[in-house]
Amino acid sequence: MFEKLDMAPADPILGLTEAFKADPNPHKINLGVGVYKDEAGLTPIMPSVRRAEEIILGREKSKTYLPISGMPEYGKVVRELLFGGDCARAVTAHTPGGTGALRVAGDFLRPQKSGKLWVSQPTWENHKAVFSTAGFEVAAYPYYDPKTKGLDFTAMLSALKAIPADDVVLLHACCHNPSGIDPTTEQWDDIAAAARSAGWLPLIDFAYQGLAEGIDDDATGVRIFAEAVDELLICSSFSKNFSLYNDRVGALTLVAADAEVAARAFSHLKIIIRRNFSNPPAHGGLIVTTIWNDPNLKTQWLGELDAMRRRIHQMRELFVATLKAKGVKQDFSFIAQQKGMFSFSGLTKEQVHALRDKYALYMVDSGRINVAGMTPDNMDCLCAAIAEVLK
Ligand code: LMR
Repeated sequence: MFEKLDMAPADPILGLTEAFKADPNPHKINLGVGVYKDEAGLTPIMPSVRRAEEIILGREKSKTYLPISGMPEYGKVVRELLFGGDCARAVTAHTPGGTGALRVAGDFLRPQKSGKLWVSQPTWENHKAVFSTAGFEVAAYPYYDPKTKGLDFTAMLSALKAIPADDVVLLHACCHNPSGIDPTTEQWDDIAAAARSAGWLPLIDFAYQGLAEGIDDDATGVRIFAEAVDELLICSSFSKNFSLYNDRVGALTLVAADAEVAARAFSHLKIIIRRNFSNPPAHGGLIVTTIWNDPNLKTQWLGELDAMRRRIHQMRELFVATLKAKGVKQDFSFIAQQKGMFSFSGLTKEQVHALRDKYALYMVDSGRINVAGMTPDNMDCLCAAIAEVLK
C-alpha cells in the first residue's frame, strides 16, 4: 500500500521551516513560522522559564501519569489568565499545544453539531485542516479588507448575525493570525451580542495572550463573551507567551451555564482526550503553573513578555521606516498599527516566491510575515529585497 502513495504537499507553514533549514544562503531570513526571535535572531529560553525548571527539577518526585485532563492547578492558572480570576462555570483540560485543544474541540463538537464551522477570511492555514479532518464542513465569514488593509467589520457582523444556531464560529482572541488586525472593545460587544441572538457556539482561539497589549487587555474579547453567552470554548496556547514551543503546552476551557452542566459536558471531552493522546505531558504545564503561582517569577515573566511585545513593535516601526528609506512608494504604515507577531504584507504569491528564490527571504505564500523574525541586523537586507521585487 505504501508503494502506491504519492508525495503529500509540504505544510504551508512548517514546510517553509524545512526549506529554510536546507537553504545554504548565509543571508537567509525566515519570516515564515510564528516563532519569536530576539535581537540576535535566536529563540532563547525565557529566564523565568529556566528558573521555574530548576525549581521543578528540585521538587519533582515522580513521572507517573497525569489525570486525563491534566493537573487541576494548571487548569486554575489557565482560567485565571483567561478571566482574571477563577470561573465556577468553567473547566479546563491541558492539551498538547493550542493545536491539540482545537482538535479536541473539533472531535467533541462534531457529534453534537450538525452545522458548519466558520472561520475568518483569512485565517491560520491549519484551522481549516484541523476542523475538516474532524468532520466539519468549514465555511468562511468576511474579516480582512485588502483595500483598507483593515477589518471589514460591517461585512463580518452581518455575516455573523446570519449564521444558524447549530453552527460553530471560530474567533481569534487577539493578534489575529495572519492579519494582525483585532476588533475593538465595542466591536467585541457587537460580536458577542450577535452570538447571543443568533445562538451559534463561539470557539475562541487564544494563542497570543500578552503579545498585543498585555495579559488582561488581550483577554477583552474572551471576557466579554463569557459575560454575554452561556456556552463557550476557548483554546489557549503557551507556545508564544512562555516561549514553550516544543513543550506543547495548551488548554481547552469549556464554559457552560453552570458548574453542573460544565462537569457533564467535560466528561465527554475526557473521553475524546483518552482516545486521542490519553493524558497530557506534564512539563510545560508545571512551568506555567510554577511561574504564575510564584509572585516574583510571575513579575519577572510579565516583564520578559513586555520586552518581547515592545521589541516586535519596534521592528514594525523600523520595517516601515526602512522600506521608505529604500524608496518603496507603496504605503506600508498599516504594519506599524497591527498587533502581535503577524501582518499581511500585501505581497503577491509571485512576489513571495521571487523573494524566496532570489533573496532567500522566506514568508508564507499568502504574504503573511512574522514581524518577530525581524532584527536590526537583518532589516536592511530584508527591506532591500522587498524594494527590488516591488519595482
Ligand atoms: C504559525 O502560525 O506560524 C504558528 O502558529 C505555528 C504553526 O504551528 O503554524
